[in-house]
Amino acid sequence: MHPRWLIAASAVLALTAAPAGAPSTAAAAGPVSAPQGTVALTLGSTAGLTGVLPGDAARTNPPSAGTRLILEARVDCRKVRCVALTFDDGPYRYTGKLLNTLEAAHVHATFFLVGAKVSKRPGLVRRMIADGHEVGNHTWSHLELTRLSLAGQRSQVTRGARAIRAAHVPRPRLLRPPFGSFNRLTRSLGVPLINWDVDTLDWKYQNSASVIRRALRDVKRGSIILMHDTLPTTVSAVPQLIRKLRAKGFVLVTVSQLLGSTKPGHVYFNGRR
Ligand code: NI
Repeated sequence: MHPRWLIAASAVLALTAAPAGAPSTAAAAGPVSAPQGTVALTLGSTAGLTGVLPGDAARTNPPSAGTRLILEARVDCRKVRCVALTFDDGPYRYTGKLLNTLEAAHVHATFFLVGAKVSKRPGLVRRMIADGHEVGNHTWSHLELTRLSLAGQRSQVTRGARAIRAAHVPRPRLLRPPFGSFNRLTRSLGVPLINWDVDTLDWKYQNSASVIRRALRDVKRGSIILMHDTLPTTVSAVPQLIRKLRAKGFVLVTVSQLLGSTKPGHVYFNGRR
Protein backbone atom coordinates (compact mmCIF):
# COMPACT_ATOMS: atom_id res chain seq x y z
CA MET A 1 0.00 0.00 0.00
CA HIS A 2 1.21 3.45 -0.86
CA PRO A 3 -1.43 5.74 0.60
CA ARG A 4 0.32 8.78 -0.84
CA TRP A 5 -1.14 7.85 -4.21
CA LEU A 6 -4.64 7.21 -3.12
CA ILE A 7 -6.46 10.43 -3.58
CA ALA A 8 -10.11 11.26 -3.20
CA ALA A 9 -12.22 10.97 -6.31
CA SER A 10 -13.38 14.54 -5.88
CA ALA A 11 -9.80 15.72 -5.94
CA VAL A 12 -9.19 13.64 -9.05
CA LEU A 13 -12.03 15.37 -10.81
CA ALA A 14 -10.91 18.76 -9.56
CA LEU A 15 -7.46 18.12 -10.98
CA THR A 16 -8.94 17.00 -14.26
CA ALA A 17 -10.83 20.25 -14.50
CA ALA A 18 -7.99 22.50 -13.41
CA PRO A 19 -6.76 25.10 -15.89
CA ALA A 20 -3.24 24.95 -17.27
CA GLY A 21 -0.63 25.86 -14.74
CA ALA A 22 -2.95 25.56 -11.78
CA PRO A 23 -1.40 23.88 -8.78
CA SER A 24 -2.24 20.24 -8.31
CA THR A 25 -4.95 19.65 -5.76
CA ALA A 26 -3.97 16.02 -5.41
CA ALA A 27 -1.22 16.56 -2.87
CA ALA A 28 -3.53 18.46 -0.55
CA ALA A 29 -6.21 15.78 -0.55
CA GLY A 30 -6.28 13.26 2.23
CA PRO A 31 -5.72 9.58 1.52
CA VAL A 32 -8.71 7.32 1.04
CA SER A 33 -8.83 3.59 1.44
CA ALA A 34 -8.54 2.11 -2.03
CA PRO A 35 -6.28 -0.78 -3.02
CA GLN A 36 -2.89 0.03 -4.49
CA GLY A 37 -2.85 -0.32 -8.24
CA THR A 38 -6.42 0.80 -8.79
CA VAL A 39 -7.68 1.00 -12.32
CA ALA A 40 -6.96 4.22 -14.13
CA LEU A 41 -9.65 6.83 -14.02
CA THR A 42 -11.23 6.60 -17.41
CA LEU A 43 -13.22 9.33 -19.10
CA GLY A 44 -14.78 8.89 -22.47
CA SER A 45 -14.57 5.86 -24.69
CA THR A 46 -12.18 2.97 -24.56
CA ALA A 47 -10.12 2.95 -27.75
CA GLY A 48 -6.48 4.11 -28.06
CA LEU A 49 -4.53 5.62 -25.26
CA THR A 50 -2.19 8.55 -25.28
CA GLY A 51 -1.66 9.45 -21.65
CA VAL A 52 -3.22 12.83 -22.17
CA LEU A 53 -3.68 15.11 -19.21
CA PRO A 54 -5.59 18.33 -18.66
CA GLY A 55 -4.17 21.76 -19.19
CA ASP A 56 -0.91 22.09 -21.09
CA ALA A 57 -0.71 18.44 -21.94
CA ALA A 58 -4.20 18.28 -23.38
CA ARG A 59 -3.51 21.23 -25.61
CA THR A 60 -0.17 19.85 -26.74
CA ASN A 61 -1.53 16.37 -27.41
CA PRO A 62 -5.25 16.90 -27.93
CA PRO A 63 -7.19 13.69 -27.40
CA SER A 64 -8.48 12.25 -30.64
CA ALA A 65 -11.85 10.55 -30.84
CA GLY A 66 -11.84 7.43 -28.75
CA THR A 67 -8.84 8.49 -26.70
CA ARG A 68 -9.01 7.86 -23.02
CA LEU A 69 -8.12 10.57 -20.61
CA ILE A 70 -6.02 9.14 -17.86
CA LEU A 71 -5.05 10.63 -14.59
CA GLU A 72 -1.54 9.38 -14.14
CA ALA A 73 -1.71 9.46 -10.35
CA ARG A 74 -4.22 6.55 -10.45
CA VAL A 75 -2.91 4.56 -13.33
CA ASP A 76 -2.64 0.75 -13.37
CA CYS A 77 0.70 -0.09 -14.95
CA ARG A 78 -0.37 -3.66 -15.67
CA LYS A 79 -2.80 -2.19 -18.18
CA VAL A 80 -1.15 0.87 -19.69
CA ARG A 81 2.29 1.79 -21.03
CA CYS A 82 3.90 3.23 -17.92
CA VAL A 83 7.35 4.77 -17.74
CA ALA A 84 9.16 6.21 -14.71
CA LEU A 85 11.34 9.30 -14.92
CA THR A 86 14.07 9.15 -12.26
CA PHE A 87 16.43 11.93 -11.21
CA ASP A 88 19.57 11.18 -9.21
CA ASP A 89 22.15 13.00 -7.12
CA GLY A 90 20.08 15.99 -5.96
CA PRO A 91 18.75 18.03 -4.45
CA TYR A 92 20.71 20.73 -6.21
CA ARG A 93 20.37 24.25 -7.56
CA TYR A 94 18.40 23.17 -10.66
CA THR A 95 15.94 20.97 -8.80
CA GLY A 96 13.45 23.79 -8.13
CA LYS A 97 13.18 24.55 -11.84
CA LEU A 98 12.59 20.87 -12.54
CA LEU A 99 9.85 20.75 -9.90
CA ASN A 100 8.17 23.72 -11.61
CA THR A 101 8.29 21.88 -14.93
CA LEU A 102 6.87 18.67 -13.48
CA GLU A 103 4.11 20.55 -11.67
CA ALA A 104 3.07 22.41 -14.82
CA ALA A 105 2.95 19.13 -16.76
CA HIS A 106 1.23 17.20 -13.92
CA VAL A 107 3.98 14.60 -13.91
CA HIS A 108 5.08 12.65 -10.84
CA ALA A 109 8.72 11.54 -10.92
CA THR A 110 11.13 9.80 -8.57
CA PHE A 111 14.10 11.52 -6.98
CA PHE A 112 16.99 9.49 -5.58
CA LEU A 113 18.64 11.86 -3.14
CA VAL A 114 22.18 12.02 -1.81
CA GLY A 115 21.78 12.34 1.95
CA ALA A 116 24.69 14.72 2.47
CA LYS A 117 23.01 17.24 0.13
CA VAL A 118 19.58 17.13 1.73
CA SER A 119 20.33 19.38 4.71
CA LYS A 120 21.34 22.19 2.32
CA ARG A 121 17.95 22.16 0.55
CA PRO A 122 15.40 20.48 2.83
CA GLY A 123 12.61 22.70 1.47
CA LEU A 124 13.01 21.18 -1.98
CA VAL A 125 12.70 17.70 -0.51
CA ARG A 126 9.51 18.64 1.31
CA ARG A 127 8.17 20.13 -1.93
CA MET A 128 8.91 16.86 -3.76
CA ILE A 129 6.64 15.02 -1.36
CA ALA A 130 4.01 17.78 -1.31
CA ASP A 131 3.94 17.75 -5.13
CA GLY A 132 3.36 13.99 -5.19
CA HIS A 133 6.80 12.82 -6.25
CA GLU A 134 8.54 9.81 -4.79
CA VAL A 135 11.75 10.26 -2.83
CA GLY A 136 14.26 7.42 -2.75
CA ASN A 137 17.64 6.91 -1.13
CA HIS A 138 20.86 7.33 -3.14
CA THR A 139 23.06 6.79 -0.06
CA TRP A 140 24.73 9.32 2.22
CA SER A 141 27.71 10.37 0.06
CA HIS A 142 27.53 8.45 -3.22
CA LEU A 143 30.35 5.98 -2.62
CA GLU A 144 30.48 2.86 -4.76
CA LEU A 145 28.91 0.35 -2.39
CA THR A 146 30.72 -2.69 -3.82
CA ARG A 147 34.00 -1.26 -2.51
CA LEU A 148 32.66 -1.25 1.05
CA SER A 149 32.18 -3.87 3.76
CA LEU A 150 28.68 -4.84 4.79
CA ALA A 151 28.92 -2.41 7.72
CA GLY A 152 30.14 0.33 5.38
CA GLN A 153 27.31 -0.27 2.95
CA ARG A 154 24.76 -0.31 5.75
CA SER A 155 26.12 2.96 7.11
CA GLN A 156 25.83 4.65 3.70
CA VAL A 157 22.25 3.52 3.33
CA THR A 158 21.17 4.23 6.90
CA ARG A 159 22.73 7.68 6.99
CA GLY A 160 21.15 8.53 3.65
CA ALA A 161 17.72 7.52 4.89
CA ARG A 162 18.21 9.39 8.15
CA ALA A 163 19.12 12.59 6.29
CA ILE A 164 15.92 12.35 4.26
CA ARG A 165 13.86 11.75 7.41
CA ALA A 166 15.52 14.80 8.96
CA ALA A 167 13.88 16.91 6.25
CA HIS A 168 10.54 15.78 7.76
CA VAL A 169 9.47 13.57 4.89
CA PRO A 170 8.65 9.86 4.94
CA ARG A 171 11.46 7.33 5.18
CA PRO A 172 12.51 6.29 1.65
CA ARG A 173 11.50 2.76 0.70
CA LEU A 174 13.70 2.37 -2.35
CA LEU A 175 17.47 2.46 -2.81
CA ARG A 176 19.32 3.36 -5.95
CA PRO A 177 22.91 2.24 -5.44
CA PRO A 178 25.41 4.81 -6.76
CA PHE A 179 26.62 3.91 -10.28
CA GLY A 180 24.01 1.14 -10.26
CA SER A 181 26.65 -0.92 -8.55
CA PHE A 182 25.62 -3.65 -6.10
CA ASN A 183 26.65 -7.06 -4.81
CA ARG A 184 25.21 -9.73 -2.55
CA LEU A 185 25.97 -7.59 0.50
CA THR A 186 23.93 -4.73 -0.97
CA ARG A 187 21.10 -7.14 -1.62
CA SER A 188 21.22 -8.27 2.00
CA LEU A 189 20.48 -4.76 3.29
CA GLY A 190 16.75 -5.36 3.18
CA VAL A 191 15.66 -2.72 0.67
CA PRO A 192 14.53 -2.98 -2.95
CA LEU A 193 17.30 -1.86 -5.35
CA ILE A 194 16.19 0.30 -8.26
CA ASN A 195 18.41 0.50 -11.32
CA TRP A 196 17.27 1.42 -14.85
CA ASP A 197 16.94 0.16 -18.39
CA VAL A 198 17.22 3.52 -20.17
CA ASP A 199 20.42 5.46 -19.55
CA THR A 200 20.31 8.94 -21.05
CA LEU A 201 24.07 9.37 -20.34
CA ASP A 202 23.15 12.96 -19.51
CA TRP A 203 26.22 13.36 -17.28
CA LYS A 204 28.48 12.39 -20.18
CA TYR A 205 27.12 14.51 -23.03
CA GLN A 206 25.44 17.32 -21.06
CA ASN A 207 23.27 18.13 -24.05
CA SER A 208 19.48 18.46 -23.95
CA ALA A 209 18.88 17.09 -27.45
CA SER A 210 20.99 14.05 -26.61
CA VAL A 211 18.96 13.34 -23.46
CA ILE A 212 15.74 13.40 -25.46
CA ARG A 213 17.13 11.37 -28.36
CA ARG A 214 18.52 8.59 -26.17
CA ALA A 215 15.45 8.37 -23.99
CA LEU A 216 13.10 8.12 -26.97
CA ARG A 217 15.34 5.63 -28.75
CA ASP A 218 15.50 3.17 -25.86
CA VAL A 219 12.21 3.60 -24.02
CA LYS A 220 9.77 0.69 -23.79
CA ARG A 221 6.70 -0.10 -21.75
CA GLY A 222 7.82 -0.34 -18.12
CA SER A 223 11.09 1.54 -18.60
CA ILE A 224 12.92 3.29 -15.81
CA ILE A 225 14.74 6.29 -17.29
CA LEU A 226 17.91 7.53 -15.57
CA MET A 227 18.64 11.26 -15.46
CA HIS A 228 20.29 13.74 -13.07
CA ASP A 229 18.70 16.93 -11.76
CA THR A 230 22.21 18.21 -11.05
CA LEU A 231 22.58 19.09 -14.74
CA PRO A 232 20.94 22.19 -16.27
CA THR A 233 21.00 20.51 -19.70
CA THR A 234 18.87 17.69 -18.34
CA VAL A 235 16.41 19.97 -16.57
CA SER A 236 15.99 21.96 -19.81
CA ALA A 237 15.27 18.75 -21.73
CA VAL A 238 12.43 17.59 -19.51
CA PRO A 239 9.49 19.62 -20.90
CA GLN A 240 10.05 18.34 -24.42
CA LEU A 241 10.85 14.84 -23.21
CA ILE A 242 7.52 14.70 -21.37
CA ARG A 243 5.62 15.89 -24.45
CA LYS A 244 7.32 13.38 -26.72
CA LEU A 245 6.86 10.45 -24.36
CA ARG A 246 3.17 11.25 -24.00
CA ALA A 247 2.84 11.64 -27.76
CA LYS A 248 4.16 8.07 -28.03
CA GLY A 249 1.45 6.90 -25.65
CA PHE A 250 3.49 6.55 -22.47
CA VAL A 251 2.04 7.37 -19.07
CA LEU A 252 4.54 8.88 -16.64
CA VAL A 253 4.50 7.48 -13.11
CA THR A 254 6.69 7.09 -10.04
CA VAL A 255 8.83 4.01 -9.54
CA SER A 256 6.50 2.64 -6.86
CA GLN A 257 3.53 3.08 -9.17
CA LEU A 258 5.46 1.37 -11.95
CA LEU A 259 6.58 -1.60 -9.89
CA GLY A 260 3.64 -2.12 -7.56
CA SER A 261 4.82 -4.16 -4.60
CA THR A 262 8.59 -4.60 -4.29
CA LYS A 263 10.74 -7.18 -2.52
CA PRO A 264 13.69 -6.39 -0.24
CA GLY A 265 16.98 -7.34 -1.88
CA HIS A 266 15.45 -7.64 -5.33
CA VAL A 267 17.04 -5.58 -8.13
CA TYR A 268 14.67 -3.86 -10.52
CA PHE A 269 15.74 -2.61 -13.95
CA ASN A 270 12.25 -1.98 -15.30
CA GLY A 271 8.62 -2.54 -14.47
CA ARG A 272 7.75 -5.13 -17.09
CA ARG A 273 5.76 -7.86 -15.41
NI1 NI B 1 24.29 8.95 -8.66
